[in-house]
Amino acid sequence: KILVLDYGSQYNQLITRRVRELGVFSELKSSKMTIDEIKAYNPKGIILSGGPKSVYDDDAYSIDPEVFKLGIPVLGVCYGMQLMAQHLGGKVEANPGNGEFGQTVIKQTAPSKLFAGTPEEQVVLMSHSDNVTKLPDNFVVAAGSEKTPIAAIANDDDRLYGVQFHSETTLSEHGKEIIKNFVINIAGADASWTMAGFIDEQIEKIRAEVGDKKILLGLSGGVDSSVVGVLLQKAIGDQLTCIFVDHGLLRKNEAQQVMDMLGGKFGLHIIKVDAQDRFLSKLAGVTDPEQKRKIIGNEFIEVFNDEAIKLKDVDFLAQGTLYTDVIESGTDTAQTIKSHHNVGGLPEEMNFTLIEPLNKLFKDEVRALGEELQMDHELVWRQPFPGPGLGIRIMGEITEDRLKTVRESDFILRDEIAKAGLEGDVWQYFTVLTNNKSVGVMGDYRTYEYTVAVRAITSVDGMTADFARLPWDVLQKVSSRIVNEVDHINRVVYDITAKPPATVEWE
Ligand code: XMP
Repeated sequence: KILVLDYGSQYNQLITRRVRELGVFSELKSSKMTIDEIKAYNPKGIILSGGPKSVYDDDAYSIDPEVFKLGIPVLGVCYGMQLMAQHLGGKVEANPGNGEFGQTVIKQTAPSKLFAGTPEEQVVLMSHSDNVTKLPDNFVVAAGSEKTPIAAIANDDDRLYGVQFHSETTLSEHGKEIIKNFVINIAGADASWTMAGFIDEQIEKIRAEVGDKKILLGLSGGVDSSVVGVLLQKAIGDQLTCIFVDHGLLRKNEAQQVMDMLGGKFGLHIIKVDAQDRFLSKLAGVTDPEQKRKIIGNEFIEVFNDEAIKLKDVDFLAQGTLYTDVIESGTDTAQTIKSHHNVGGLPEEMNFTLIEPLNKLFKDEVRALGEELQMDHELVWRQPFPGPGLGIRIMGEITEDRLKTVRESDFILRDEIAKAGLEGDVWQYFTVLTNNKSVGVMGDYRTYEYTVAVRAITSVDGMTADFARLPWDVLQKVSSRIVNEVDHINRVVYDITAKPPATVEWE
């Protein structure tokens, strides 16, 4: 395994992912890890991430220089390279001018194992204000750019390397090969980390931890909790009970699909709670978006707890927490971006031990795991769906009638996107029922009805997004079908706003 020490770069997770793509397990850990902890972790190689600070700042994150004497190969990226240089006899100074940002050409200046097999000149992503200005002892300059003569350093004998650029991003053309050179060829890590292996390992771990005790899982119908359910079922079968709260804010047929696949095909024991009435009555008359979110979130926890309390002798609560959630809330350097409503608030009066089998995986790895577990492709690749569901896609009051409108229009949109084969191109797509009424004409009659907005976006992680350039003819079909097939709608508009400044959801 490869240890990535986190110095706060926005790309730090990417390094971990790139290594895992090579089939080598890798984890991002706090840069405050001590030398003994690092030794105990026993990595094949260590990567020091980039970071926003300057190595000479008073509050700069540092490193125990012993790391460089362990005989374990080290690759420093950006800030990581500067740290390495600072500690091994080199020098770091502010870049004259305004630093170097964006894609830049570097040229290899001395042969090194790090760049083996990559072209002499290559495009890389630079993003730094400091430079290494004096080479550390026993190193060679492996590559330089016009503004940064020391853009990569290498010491093949001690297996210590540094790159000033971000080899982990795809904007560095040969970044993948460079990381592969380090991980496989230099560090000699074993490329044997696969999803099949992960399943076996987890099943063994879960069995050892749980024994003959019982586990509770909150199913949301989303990919994460569903994958946890199937994995646990494989590991401990009947000892698993799932609670699936249908808050009445799900998409058309969604609850049934979840029950059919997880309850039917995979045989999970699911307690389905039909709580539509409970939610709708709590939401009656509420129009404020934040208020709606709070009500839905709280009610969810209450319903879940009511059911959980009925179950006897449950010791464990399983959750579909992902590695990204752990990183975002757990390291010293990363910042919390947004707290969302998710399934499964822990009942306070119950003493559960948490089980989080996915907490080392990224979203795409969870999908690969789902595929490996033979789960339905449709569920595994399901687009993100917010915890508060359709409740935040209805502007104004949520009523049964209005839910039906948004559900039917959403169904039509999904149907047309599927027919056009665009599911893989659009990251998320849904309809919003606005509370805007306008005049129309249908047949010979004047109408005065509501407007539906279509939202379709492209994105990598939901943090930023752009509106999808859907073909006009697809939009035309969607519009005409919605107006014709859905009651109380006489107008359809397309949301052409990016995030930021808008958000993905309207509420
Ligand atoms: P926004 O609206 O914040 O959405 O731009 C970004 C992404 O997050 C989803 N979203 C949620 N997911 N619980 C969730 O699990 C929530 O409360 C929630 N609110 C928004 C949204 O669908 C989009 O993918």
